[in-house]
Amino acid sequence: MLPDSIPSIESPVEVRNFEVSDEDLPAFEDMPFEDIEELPLDHPGAKDPEYRKRRDYIASLAKNFRETGVITDVPYTEEEQGVWRYVAEELEELHRKHASPFYLKAKKNLGISNERIPQLSEMNRKLGELTGFRLAPIEGLVNTRSFLSWLSWRTMLSTQYIRHHSRPGYTPEPDIVHEAMGHIPMFTNQAFADYSQFIGHGARMATDEQIEQLGRLYWFTVEFGLVEAEGEIKAYGAGVLSSFKEMEHAFSSDVELREFDLETVINHDYTYSDIQPVLYVVPSYQFLKDETRRFIETFGS
Ligand SMILES: [Fe+2]
Repeated sequence: MLPDSIPSIESPVEVRNFEVSDEDLPAFEDMPFEDIEELPLDHPGAKDPEYRKRRDYIASLAKNFRETGVITDVPYTEEEQGVWRYVAEELEELHRKHASPFYLKAKKNLGISNERIPQLSEMNRKLGELTGFRLAPIEGLVNTRSFLSWLSWRTMLSTQYIRHHSRPGYTPEPDIVHEAMGHIPMFTNQAFADYSQFIGHGARMATDEQIEQLGRLYWFTVEFGLVEAEGEIKAYGAGVLSSFKEMEHAFSSDVELREFDLETVINHDYTYSDIQPVLYVVPSYQFLKDETRRFIETFGS
């Protein structure tokens, strides 16, 4: 099921009742993903034929990976590099002020700079050494169960294309800015990587209702989570870290901050918009890992 070049990694953590077999996982070879036309929000690039062609080309590289297991580095254009540089520079000051100290260090350790779009292959090499996490290219947004299930192999499905140049501050779907500026650095944290894997284990055992609960947990942590660090509240969620609008909002008086409580979070029905009215603060990534472990150990029993 896994392409050959993705070595199987022995999980450093175990969940007692993790008994779902690989056959229950959505097949990687024909992973369903959402077409640009099906996205719930307006896509600034949807009506630009040049952008669509380019996005299709980059998606074809991801498709090639799914068939061969080989990651092809994307030859990004100068325009695409310009979008990256613009967003990275806009985010820099906000990150310095509000990003979690771990994230800031991790971004540097992974060699993610403002100058150029990082390739999944180079980040994979470093992630592999640090926590055994890895990235697998994907063409677009996949459904919740498929996406979360792959975390079970310490694998995050990652897009490679970049948002449309007309609105560099906005994207209705994941893109390489969201992945590399938001998600990827956090996978160098052992507790966070283990936490992500637990979500993956949970997704493979979950009922439909539990998948929704895991989706909410993921949303309020991996996407929009805040953490206590050195006596302050900082951002570690990718949806916050990769958006200047969301970043400014998260640290304004317009947002309601709540202490993380698992039961509350898994029942908090959120709306998919680019501004979140409520955010949850965790005391540590280890706490998140321990709480989630307890939660998913109740699955399948
Ligand atoms: Fe995301």
